[in-house]
Amino acid sequence: MHVLAGTASTPLAEKISRELGNAPLGIPFTKRFPDGELYLRVEGDLAGEAAIVVQSTRTDGDLVELLLLEEAVRAAGAGRVVVVIPYFGYARQDRRFLPGEPLSARALCRHIEQDADAVVTVDLHSSETLRHFTKPAFEASGIPALARRLQARPVDLLVSPDRGGIARAQRMGAALGRPWAALEKKRIDSEHVELRFPTAHPPEVRGRNVVLVDDVIATGGTIVEAARLLRHEGARSVAAACTHGLFLRDAFERIKAVTDEVLATDTLVHPAETASVAPDIAAIVRQAIPA
Ligand code: R5P
Repeated sequence: MHVLAGTASTPLAEKISRELGNAPLGIPFTKRFPDGELYLRVEGDLAGEAAIVVQSTRTDGDLVELLLLEEAVRAAGAGRVVVVIPYFGYARQDRRFLPGEPLSARALCRHIEQDADAVVTVDLHSSETLRHFTKPAFEASGIPALARRLQARPVDLLVSPDRGGIARAQRMGAALGRPWAALEKKRIDSEHVELRFPTAHPPEVRGRNVVLVDDVIATGGTIVEAARLLRHEGARSVAAACTHGLFLRDAFERIKAVTDEVLATDTLVHPAETASVAPDIAAIVRQAIPA
């Protein structure tokens, strides 16, 4: 079994190769042509081998690299190709909100699975996206990785900033043996939200160590507002934990200013403290490639 690291996911690919018993790690050679197009070459003998391609698709360029990598690995004779997409870009456009829009998530699934035998993702915007793959497709959760990191710390309450994240806060609460709650969120625009405590059974946060749990931190608008609200209500400490740390523009600095700790998994490279999903991905890869 060989692990091939895309440039967007090299540190995570290294950890996955270690988790898979030090499976050989291939770092493809890449360069840019004068017109800006990507040149890529995989080295080493992949004939008949299982190849685990690891590449998040945060940018359009990352996506092109993933498609080239898959094609190269297949052409090099890999017996089985498992594509690991730790952060799956375009997953948020998983519905047609207006006529004429693309179902972006489905469009990507179709192309990505072309040269794959199985696909592994982590905390998709909606698990429904898995249904767009015709090959075996799996979704790991970032929650166990975050919980492993939080285990030794004082945590009294897990809070989801919106009702859509209740299952996440519940799962983290179960992993840490702590209660959970959810705020009510109204999105104003892509950068601003309004948050309030639920009127029925508002959680008691005064004097408690609260961890906000979310799937994605993008502009930081949600977490900054949530942290301010929890502090205003007397929380002793507020930490932010998410699976995908996009931290757009100055989001990380703004969140740091209103929280005691910022934690994100390694599906993306970011400046926050990191919790690794490598063991969780490796477990699924082993399942996708039966011995
Ligand atoms: C929303 O449904 C998600 O769970 C996140 O809360 C959201 O994507 C975070 O975005 P931002 O950091 O831009 O507020």
